[in-house]
Amino acid sequence: MSQNRVMETLLERRSVRAYRSEQISEEELTDILHAAKYAPTARGLQARHFTVIQNKQFIAEIVFAAKGNSVNDGEAPFYNAPTMIVLSAPQDAKYGREDCACAIMNIMLAAQALGLGTCYICSVLNGLRDAGILSRLKLPEGYIPFGSVAVGYPKEHAPAPKERRTDDISYIR
Ligand SMILES: Cc1cc2nc3c(=O)[nH]c(=O)nc-3n(C[C@H](O)[C@H](O)[C@H](O)COP(=O)(O)O)c2cc1C
Repeated sequence: MSQNRVMETLLERRSVRAYRSEQISEEELTDILHAAKYAPTARGLQARHFTVIQNKQFIAEIVFAAKGNSVNDGEAPFYNAPTMIVLSAPQDAKYGREDCACAIMNIMLAAQALGLGTCYICSVLNGLRDAGILSRLKLPEGYIPFGSVAVGYPKEHAPAPKERRTDDISYIR
């Protein structure tokens, strides 16, 4: 396998589910968002929106909107990450979900390159789409969330990756 810095970043990224409480720097945030804006978008329309949330109270409200009273003490779908980035796209866009996923991937890889941890979070999507929360995400008209990503300094090393499947590539030559 050829080795270079990009390949290392791709292979070393893991979902991080424990974060230190300190906030990421403005410079790191700017770099991550800059990288995210260079992700591909369908027809090059850049029809996706980033909402950066660095407010613990609002994050708790999103979790409550997603889980209601079923949320257990200590359960934290965002793993107490100090920054959440929500990706939204027009509700009726044909490839809105894909545009958001590509941006999230760039966020995760840029963060990895900077020594930060991330985790793609979809489990609270219904909370993000709750009318009361949606109205506070500062989205353009007609946009809805398609995913989010937790960002922060990792508290510990993430577990080693699972073995990769060996039966999932077909070649037609
Ligand atoms: C579309 C999508 C949604 C995900 N949603 C969640 C989530 O809600 N919570 C979570 O802890 N991890 C979530 N993950 C992370 C996956 O569980 C993780 O990528 C997978 O277990 C492989 O681990 P790795 O990222 O360390 O390689 C999501 C990943 C993807 C691609």
